Amino acid sequence: MVSQMTSLSPSQAAPHPAPLVRVDDLRVRFVSRDATVRAVNGISFDLERGKVLCVIGESGSGKSVMMRSLLRLHPKKRTVIEGTMSVAEHDIGALSERAMTGLRGSLVSMVFQEPMTALDPLYRIGDQIVETVRRHEHVSRQAALARALELLQLVRVPSPERRLRAYPHELSGGLRQRIVIAMALACRPSLLLADEPTTALDASVQIQILVLLRKIQREMGMAMIFVTHDLGVAAQIADQVAVMYAGRIIEYGSAGDVLLAPQHPYTKAMLAATAKDQDRSLALEAIAGSPPDLRALPEGCNFAPRCKFAGPDCTVATPPPITDAGDHMARCIRVGIVAHKLTFSATTMPTI
Ligand SMILES: Nc1ncnc2c1ncn2[C@@H]1O[C@H](COP(=O)(O)OP(=O)(O)O)[C@@H](O)[C@H]1O
Ligand SMILES: [Mg+2]
Repeated sequence: MVSQMTSLSPSQAAPHPAPLVRVDDLRVRFVSRDATVRAVNGISFDLERGKVLCVIGESGSGKSVMMRSLLRLHPKKRTVIEGTMSVAEHDIGALSERAMTGLRGSLVSMVFQEPMTALDPLYRIGDQIVETVRRHEHVSRQAALARALELLQLVRVPSPERRLRAYPHELSGGLRQRIVIAMALACRPSLLLADEPTTALDASVQIQILVLLRKIQREMGMAMIFVTHDLGVAAQIADQVAVMYAGRIIEYGSAGDVLLAPQHPYTKAMLAATAKDQDRSLALEAIAGSPPDLRALPEGCNFAPRCKFAGPDCTVATPPPITDAGDHMARCIRVGIVAHKLTFSATTMPTI
């Protein structure tokens, strides 16, 4: 079923607009006196306008480092970034500091796991949203306040007028995350980077926020890169899925392809663990062994030491991406050889 890249079909060869996001061979390492941490090791992907890419992988696989690179949020000192990234044809590596500041929050904004990191405890919610709007747009305070109210309505904050006058600590975690999302949407970004935005919340609140984000994303035609370690969340929200392992994308494709017909043994193991115990928080830990030390990455496939299909040929060289005609990619030299004992149907997929 899977073979080396086949020739382009006529529909693929037709001219189409440039993707909103282009990442080409991104590499990020953190250098200290004693060691070099290789957090991202050659990531490439494109994302079309209005689409949702879900990035999944164990803790420490480089998901947040990749996201922060897109907004150039790493400390300059001791961080080495290679490769190219562009958003709406802006070359992220080449932009001036000033242009980058302008881009953050307007063209691209980001929502983090912990809403308190994005909110200032000393200021009322309304003032913080007004400030965010006015940082990017020359509008009166009154117009910005009207926008703040609209935004709270958009993210379904009850009694929005009252909440505009509240301080962050007066609100629940779920409400705070809705407000952070409202602030991220304030300037109608083309791209929202969401780094595990619901992980810190109770399951029921998590679902409400996911459904809301997906709805707003569709209505606004905004693209989103959504990081999660939860496969059920990915199934709910993704158009495309990228599975990361030790700083590489080891599987990539449409949500249906990756989650229902996984090709890489790592993705299969994750899904099998999830389907078996239904407790998604345990799913990744259920794969025996642990991820490699990013300070001393082994030769060859980084998953080989934990892979039940691995042989000596797996530790010779980094597996190349093998892509089928439908753009479903896996970095595993056994793709197409390993029998697919596991098949998933939409009904056995974990749901949130
Ligand atoms: N500023 C930094 N300096 C050194 N190591 C870092 C830094 N930021 C992240 N790392 C390391 O990079 C690896 C990937 O981290 P991260 O992207 O946060 O993983 P996750 O997939 O859980 O989001 C981890 O081993 C982390 O410790
Ligand atoms: Mg992270």
